[in-house]
Amino acid sequence: MGNQNSEKTIQTNALPTIQGCGIGLRLEHFDEIKEQKPDIPWFEILSDNYLIEGTSQREYLYKFREDYPVTFHGVGLSIGSTDPLNMDFLKSLKKLKDEVQPAWISDHLCWTSAHGVVTHDLIPLPYTKSVITHIVDRIKQVQDYLGEQIVIENVSSYLQFKDSEMKEWDFINEVTRKSDCKLLLDVNNIYVSSQNHLFDADEYLYAMPQERIAEMHLAGYEDHGTHLLDTHSRPVTDPVWDLFTKAVEHFGDVPVLIEWDSDIPSLQRVMEEANKAKAIQQKVLPLCA
Ligand SMILES: [Fe+2]
Repeated sequence: MGNQNSEKTIQTNALPTIQGCGIGLRLEHFDEIKEQKPDIPWFEILSDNYLIEGTSQREYLYKFREDYPVTFHGVGLSIGSTDPLNMDFLKSLKKLKDEVQPAWISDHLCWTSAHGVVTHDLIPLPYTKSVITHIVDRIKQVQDYLGEQIVIENVSSYLQFKDSEMKEWDFINEVTRKSDCKLLLDVNNIYVSSQNHLFDADEYLYAMPQERIAEMHLAGYEDHGTHLLDTHSRPVTDPVWDLFTKAVEHFGDVPVLIEWDSDIPSLQRVMEEANKAKAIQQKVLPLCA
C-alpha cells in the first residue's frame, strides 16, 4: 500500500461517516474484530498509542481502517498547559491523520503537563477570562496546524480553583465559540463532576452549545463514597443513562461512543452498552422529530 515516498494510502471510501453508537478500539479486542468483523458503525482510537511509525499496532490500524470509520481521541495535547505546544507530537498526529483519515480529532479541555513533566492525569483548569484567552489561542494554533476544526471534551474533576470566575459550562461555551472548535460532550463526566462538586447536572447539560456537539461519550465510574472516580471500568450507571436520555431529547441525533478502558470485558459486553445507547436513541429520536 505504500508508495515511493513511503506515505500510506488507506484503501477505503473517502472520509468516514460517523453515525450511531460506536465503541473504543482496544487491544484486547483486536483479534476478534479482525476475524469476525462485528457490526459496529465506527470506532474511536486512542491516537496517542499509534503515533510511532512502523509498529505492529499501527499496521493493524491501517488494515482496520479499510473496514471501519474511525475518529481519533487523545490525551497528549495538553491544550491548557503553559508549556509551549509540543510540535513533535502535533507533527506525528498530523502524519497519522493524513494516513488514516479520521472523521475528526478530539482531546480534552484540561492540562496534562507542566514544565515538561507529563502527569498522565486530566487536570482541570481555573475558569477565568485569562485562561479562555490562553486556551483559545492554543486551540487556534492546533487547528491551523492540522488544517481542520478539533473536538474538545469536558473532563471529570475532583477539585475546583478559588480563582474561577464563572461556571464550567459558561467556560466551555466561551472556549468553543471563540476558538470555533467542536465539542465532545462526555455525559458521564458531567454526572461525575456534578456529584463531586454538588451542582445540577441538568443545568450543565442544557447549557451546552448544541451546534458545536460532534459526539457524546458514555462510560462507567467507581463510587468511592466521598467522591465518584471516572475510571471507565464499569457499565454506565442508571443516573448517567437518564442524563443521556435527556441529552438525546435535547440535542437530537448525535454520534455516541462507549468508553471502557480498564477491567475491559468481552467485546460482546461493550457492544451491549452500545446497543443500550442505540435503543435509547431509537426510542427518543422519533418523538423529537
Ligand atoms: Fe470521555
